[in-house]
Amino acid sequence: MESLRLGRARRIEGEIIPPGDKSITHRAIMISSVSKGVSCIHGYLKGEDNIRTLKAFEMMGVNAEQRNCDLIIKGTELFGLNEPSDVIDAGNSGTTMRLISGILSGQNFLSVITGDESLRRRPMGRILEPLRLMGAEVFSRKGGFAPLVIKGGRLKSISYRMNVASAQVKSCILFAGLYADGITEIEEPVQSRDHTERMLSYFGVNLSRNNLKISIRGHQQPEAREIFIPGDLSSASFFIVAALLLNNSELLVKNVGVNYTRSGIIDVLKQMGGNIEIMNLRKICEEDVADLYVKASRLKGVKISGPLIPRLIDEIPVLCVAAAMAEGETEIRDATELRVKESDRINSMCSELRKMGVDVEELEDGMVIQGKGRIDSAVFDSHGDHRVAMALIIASLVAEGESEVRGTECIRTSFPSFFELLRNTIIFGNS
Ligand code: S3P
Repeated sequence: MESLRLGRARRIEGEIIPPGDKSITHRAIMISSVSKGVSCIHGYLKGEDNIRTLKAFEMMGVNAEQRNCDLIIKGTELFGLNEPSDVIDAGNSGTTMRLISGILSGQNFLSVITGDESLRRRPMGRILEPLRLMGAEVFSRKGGFAPLVIKGGRLKSISYRMNVASAQVKSCILFAGLYADGITEIEEPVQSRDHTERMLSYFGVNLSRNNLKISIRGHQQPEAREIFIPGDLSSASFFIVAALLLNNSELLVKNVGVNYTRSGIIDVLKQMGGNIEIMNLRKICEEDVADLYVKASRLKGVKISGPLIPRLIDEIPVLCVAAAMAEGETEIRDATELRVKESDRINSMCSELRKMGVDVEELEDGMVIQGKGRIDSAVFDSHGDHRVAMALIIASLVAEGESEVRGTECIRTSFPSFFELLRNTIIFGNS
């Protein structure tokens, strides 16, 4: 197990270009793989999760080549994938497993997909039900857990009302819908991230959206494209929170995705009193991209719930650290989904916040944190969860005294350059 010891930082300053967005990179690899022609993906994320997605398609005969910092993918078209000769291993990546299952369901072959211990504990029933309704033969372990066995084939379209706000489930059905006869309709309870919709339309696929309903006609062949991936706001958030919390910090975050379905963290940190300026807003390959200028600020507690939650679901671990350092109470509700992420993030963060001397109440669907403007150092545990690990590193940088974060190897799943960017921007001591 890897661990890291670190003390209080003085400030953070300079600029960062965050690594490519993880969600968008997964989609770029998947859609390029089943497109007609050769796609070039610029700025893709080389995290372990994305490499799992790439390897899965290579196992199915997709030709991919890394050229400088770009990924060149020769698509096989919708029906050109080959049966994988071995089990596909999605590692720690829920996005890989859930999204690929939609594509595998439309293939005329058998595939088996598994993952690491954490992924094999996460609920897959939420994708098995719609895939079965579409006519796919899908099997899981008892209770809807991976490994999954998928005997794909001809699919029929469905009208499906999702009962969780999950972009992974939505995207799985959209991909299966691309293989189905007729028009597939999906209704979400609350809007989740819409990168799949945006990227499919960038690749020439027609979809229509009416509030929370999306429809897609099957058998539309995506056409290869050149695609530029924006920086990952979820990764940038660790640096943004550090810059807000450490006195005299000033940080420029360049080329980061600010898609509305992902940017709840900016809205909430601003509501807490954070000084964040959005600059150079532009659109690149259907995604909104901007630069953010962040300055140290005094934060106050906030209440978050409802449709805001999916817009910042992955940022809640680091938001907990901001809340602990803020003045006053922060209440997080309607976030039960956190219990089925890479770890049970409600439980993981509550136990780690207590080690910081923070008064926190664990709720079934969230937590209440009493911010008091300072936190204690401690020996922290990542719970094997990359976002918890990085949130705890930020907590260690603002805590009084020296801390240790145990189990930091999981950071490589989403942010392999995390430590390098920290080294480039964090200032310790009196300099
Ligand atoms: C993701 C969707 C979210 C998010 C995850 C990535 C995606 O999960 O938490 O990190 O790429 O679609 P859910 O769709 O399960 O909410």
